Formats: sequence, structure tokens, C-alpha cells
Amino acid sequence: MDRKIDELLFALMQNMTLAVSGERLARSLGVSHSTLVRWVDKLRKAGVEIRGELFTGFRLIRLPDVMLPQLIRTRLHTQSFGRNLYHFYEVDSTNAFASRLLNHGRKIPDGTVVIAESQTAGRGRLGRNWHSEPESGLYFSVIFRPRVPPSLAPLFTLTAAVAMHNAIERHTRLDVDIKWPNDLLIGGKKICGILAEIQAEVDLVKTMVVGIGLNVNHQKLPEEILQRATSLRIASGSIQSRLEIFAEFLEEFENLYRHFEKAGPASIIEQWTEHSSFADGREVEIHDGVKLIKGTTRGLNSLGALRIEGKDRNIEEVYSGDVIAWK
Ligand code: BTN
Repeated sequence: MDRKIDELLFALMQNMTLAVSGERLARSLGVSHSTLVRWVDKLRKAGVEIRGELFTGFRLIRLPDVMLPQLIRTRLHTQSFGRNLYHFYEVDSTNAFASRLLNHGRKIPDGTVVIAESQTAGRGRLGRNWHSEPESGLYFSVIFRPRVPPSLAPLFTLTAAVAMHNAIERHTRLDVDIKWPNDLLIGGKKICGILAEIQAEVDLVKTMVVGIGLNVNHQKLPEEILQRATSLRIASGSIQSRLEIFAEFLEEFENLYRHFEKAGPASIIEQWTEHSSFADGREVEIHDGVKLIKGTTRGLNSLGALRIEGKDRNIEEVYSGDVIAWK
């Protein structure tokens, strides 16, 4: 975790109009000069523009768009989600780090969030990669322990999809669609993906890590995904605040999660259905990992499985898979 580097950046942000002596910074952070210089380099590599050097003093050139815990906290209205934060300038994958945290056996509070400015090995569903450019997207994982059997776990990824849908629409006024099970689309192109990983006993989920990747301020996406993906900036024509969307998402996710715990998943299924053009009457082809299923969507069952009506009028309930074609 880059907590000390966050402190350094925060100190520079408090003094934007002047150069802060390297001597003073090193002393207040309790580190050697060489460590300070190494940290400044790390911030520069992460895209933060810092002028100067140790003996002339350091000065921030522009306010960087960094998900500093110090800034996140001032915007959070949650009880527990996001209150315990691990922030990285670079990490392999926030989901992988969250799993390592859990495997270390330390008590990790529910609602702990791991967030990174960029990932070197961002993971997507079905073994794919997740493009994780610095300063452009939101890449984070939320850890929690729903007291439910593993069969209900997919409902929490639908919950996350609904929460992100609501946060983006509220913040940007863009029209967001949910593609089953939990991709978010704008104008038919993907802006957000969710990767849930669980540790479970036979009849109880022990921990759940819900990893979310959202394309926010990308101006251009790599050639290989250009046809299928977009960002909020491309779709809206303006820069969006990662901080605001993140804080809004966590509040929404926590509220939906608490409601789910108290009242069950009916309202999640209802909201998902309301916000997804895939819920009903869409002709789709789904690969469930074993076979191809073709048919027309007929809503979700009470466990979040998609009901597909085939040509023979029989209904098949699909619990996981990928919609590979749709009309
Ligand atoms: C998908 O394939 O649609 C799911 C993508 C999930 C990407 C996010 S980015 C943050 C978190 N850490 C990861 O390694 N993956 C998820």
C-alpha cells in the first residue's frame, strides 16, 4: 500500500503555490532524502507533474486526478464501505491483492476497498485481461461477507451492477444499460465490467471480492476493444470526476446491500430488470461455458439466473455465461 506516498502528495497539494523544501518534506514524513526522491519519482511515473528537486524544493504543477484516501474520505457518506482503504499507484490486480489480504488471515473489516491508479495484470471475466490505464479509469475491489449460501452469491454482482448503473446515471445523466449478468453499456458499448470472486464453504459464503473496472476518462481505447468499448468521457464529451462517481457508487452499493440483507433480493431483481434492456424479449446467444444457448430472454428467476425461451418454447435458466450475440 502506498500510504506514505499518499501523504507526500497530500502535503504537496496543501502547498500548491510554492515549492516545499525536500528537507522539510523528508523530515515531516520521517524518511531519508533518498526515499523521498524515490517516492517523487514514483509519483511522476504515475503521471503526477512535480517540478523541482530535493535542494530547490518540490512543487505540484497541476492538481492531479489521484484517488487519494484523504480526498475520498471527505466525500464518503457510508457507514462501512470504503472506510478501510488500500490505495496503490500500481498493483498487479486489486482483486488479487484483496485475495492476498484475506489469505493472510488478518481480520479485514467488511466493506474494505482496494483501489489502484493502474493495474499491471487487471483480470477480466473468463480469463480475459482488463485494460487499466493510469488516471483514466476506476479499478477497485470491495471485500464483504454476505451471510448467504453460495447459490445466492451472483445476486451480489447484480447488486453491484445496479449500484454502478445508478451512480453513473445520477452523476452524468447518460443512459446506461445493463447487459446480463453485469456489464454496463452505453450506446451498446461496454464501459464497466464486474468480476466477483468468492471463498465459500459448501453452504456459506465466507468472503466475497467484487472487483469493478470502469472506463471514465479514457480519450482513446486500444484498437482491440475500440469497437466494443467506450468511456464516460467519450460518451459524454466531458471529463468526469472519478472521485465523485466512486463515492456515489459506494454509498449506493452499501444501501442496496443492507436492504438485501434485511429484505432479500426481490428489489435487486426488480431494479436490475427495470434498468436492463436484456431482461425481457431480447434475442440472444449465450455461451454458458459448456454449450451455446439461443433464444429470447424472459426475465430473471429469484436467484438472478436469466430465463431463456428456446424455439421449442421451453425455458432454460442460465446461471452464468456470456452473452456473445444479441439483437
Ligand atoms: C469483466 O471482464 O467484464 C470484468 C472486469 C473486472 C475488472 C476489474 S478492475 C478492478 C478489479 N481488479 C481486477 O483485476 N479486475 C477487476
